[in-house]
Amino acid sequence: MLCGKRVILRAIEPPDLPNYVRWFADPEVLAYFGLYQPQNLAQEQTWYQRQNENSSSVNFAIDFEGRHVGGCGFANIDAKNQHAEVGLFIGEKALWDQGLGKDVLATLVNYGFDFLNLHRIYLRVFANNQRAVHAYEQIGFVHEGRFRETKWRHGRWLDLLYMMSYAPNGGPGGRSHGPDAPSAMSGRAPAAIIAGKTRRPRPAWDIAPASGWCGTGKPRPR
Ligand SMILES: CC(C)(COP(=O)(O)OP(=O)(O)OC[C@H]1O[C@@H](n2cnc3c(N)ncnc32)[C@H](O)[C@@H]1OP(=O)(O)O)[C@@H](O)C(=O)NCCC(=O)NCCS
Repeated sequence: MLCGKRVILRAIEPPDLPNYVRWFADPEVLAYFGLYQPQNLAQEQTWYQRQNENSSSVNFAIDFEGRHVGGCGFANIDAKNQHAEVGLFIGEKALWDQGLGKDVLATLVNYGFDFLNLHRIYLRVFANNQRAVHAYEQIGFVHEGRFRETKWRHGRWLDLLYMMSYAPNGGPGGRSHGPDAPSAMSGRAPAAIIAGKTRRPRPAWDIAPASGWCGTGKPRPR
């Protein structure tokens, strides 16, 4: 399992599935999802089975103070091109706006860069989901695109935003949105970084100082 500052991300177990049914029956939780209808237990069991067999996704249950409070993970993991889509939700509404979403996302991003060897992590979010957009920006996700009138929700069209986080050290040819970002022309990282003489400053998402596998006792390398 993965430890954030306050959350724990662990494997999803079959007894967790009724919680997903309960959360997705709530229109407020469902409002910002790709789903169009509540899910029943059989549908959740099918999803659980499929994601267990799908090597291009990694999903976690979110625990907070010993309680299962939401779900998160990576989808569309593309190992060749080193990118993946990240997603999260806090199903327990009473816990919104307490910093858990940011903690979860920072923990996932650290894991994606440090363990999955990703170069880019992207997410899709409805433009009117101001809470989510604000939280994602605080973890260093930058706006990369806006797809207008993409989804029909509540009787109107909604725009979909693409947001992105790039690996902090960029790597050869890597990109960053920091002050030492590579030239747009070459798309290459500065020579000193390529030569391994310096690292890019870690961006704002690094708010979960010791996240990674729980109990290793090792601080994450800087
Ligand atoms: C989106 C979600 C994951 C965020 O998690 P969270 O724990 O509620 O978020 P956090 O508390 O970490 O951060 C929310 C931030 O947005 C701010 N915020 C809340 N409502 C806001 C609004 N209407 N406009 C702008 N900012 C807002 C909060 O004040 C907080 O910022 P702060 O820490 O600077 O004060 C969670 O609310 C959720 O699961 N919502 C329902 C499902 C969903 O939208 N999933 C995401 C799909 S992309």
